[in-house]
Amino acid sequence: MKEALNLSVQIGSLKLQNPVTVASGTFGYGEEYARLVDLNQLGAVTVKGIRLGPVRGNPTPRTVEVASGLINAIGLQGPGVDGFIQKYWPFLKNLKVPAIINIWGTTIEEYAEVAQRFDALGGVGALELNVSCPNIKEGGAQFGTDLRLLSQVVAACRKVTTLPLITKMSPNVVNIAPFAKAAEDAGSDALAVTNSYPAMAIDIETRKPKLANITGGLTGPAIKPIAMKLVWDAAKSVKVPIIAMGGIQNAADAIEFMMAGATAVAIGTANFYEPRTALNVVVGIRDYMERKGIRDVHELTGSVHITK
Ligand SMILES: Cc1cc2nc3c(=O)[nH]c(=O)nc-3n(C[C@H](O)[C@H](O)[C@H](O)COP(=O)(O)O)c2cc1C
Repeated sequence: MKEALNLSVQIGSLKLQNPVTVASGTFGYGEEYARLVDLNQLGAVTVKGIRLGPVRGNPTPRTVEVASGLINAIGLQGPGVDGFIQKYWPFLKNLKVPAIINIWGTTIEEYAEVAQRFDALGGVGALELNVSCPNIKEGGAQFGTDLRLLSQVVAACRKVTTLPLITKMSPNVVNIAPFAKAAEDAGSDALAVTNSYPAMAIDIETRKPKLANITGGLTGPAIKPIAMKLVWDAAKSVKVPIIAMGGIQNAADAIEFMMAGATAVAIGTANFYEPRTALNVVVGIRDYMERKGIRDVHELTGSVHITK
């Protein structure tokens, strides 16, 4: 008889049945994918970013495919807290797996208010703070690339909620270590590494940018090795678990991130061409564990062999 494998992982007080979720903004609010994917087989469903009020997003075109990746400038379109609770929460709250709500704001007070609203809602699995947003009160500096703002925004959310807090780190820093440490010290229960990389593409026939917004964020396989380095650096500087993302297309990619130090992974851009990628990754991790005689998925975390 086969021995039971343990795939479950812990993100703060939240237990996931397996270490695989989806990346915010690439899976709608879950319901859109429910006909294609058995959502209850995932570790968690992470939803598109929500701020306090509704957001229309950027003009189109908002996405462009480039070599090994996608550049998007959606502009964080969303229904706001009330719209989300009314339209999407009734479906999400009945899932057997937890929902991770990705939140953002343009001031520290807004983040805290959104966090507090979701805390009061009850039944939310965790909050993921998208800190790759400009602070309108401080000249548009991104929260995630300013150590003081990052600490303040995490601490402000920590004050108003007991929900597990996942800080989604910006890749836009020279050294991620002090930022990872700042998020941990301010009360974050986990880190998500990483968001998209600033990017641009031009149509040489028309000489126009390919995105209406001119610039956007690069995601997909093109960013995987650089996201890997961020996960490696972040993992060495914090004790809290890391949810890795950036170009994961299959179980091998996910396992690679775990070996670099991740406890869990999220599938993003790949959902657009293969909605079942996250499920395939769960199956593939299990197969790998069986093949290698690994009984607990935690054995993979940080297991890269370094010889000097
Ligand atoms: C179309 C699109 C929309 C996204 N929207 C959000 C968002 O609302 N909030 C957020 O924190 N990240 C957002 N992201 C970033 C992803 O969650 C993820 O960090 C990134 O895509 C890297 O993973 P991937 O290479 O597997 O796609 C978005 C990415 C894409 C491609």
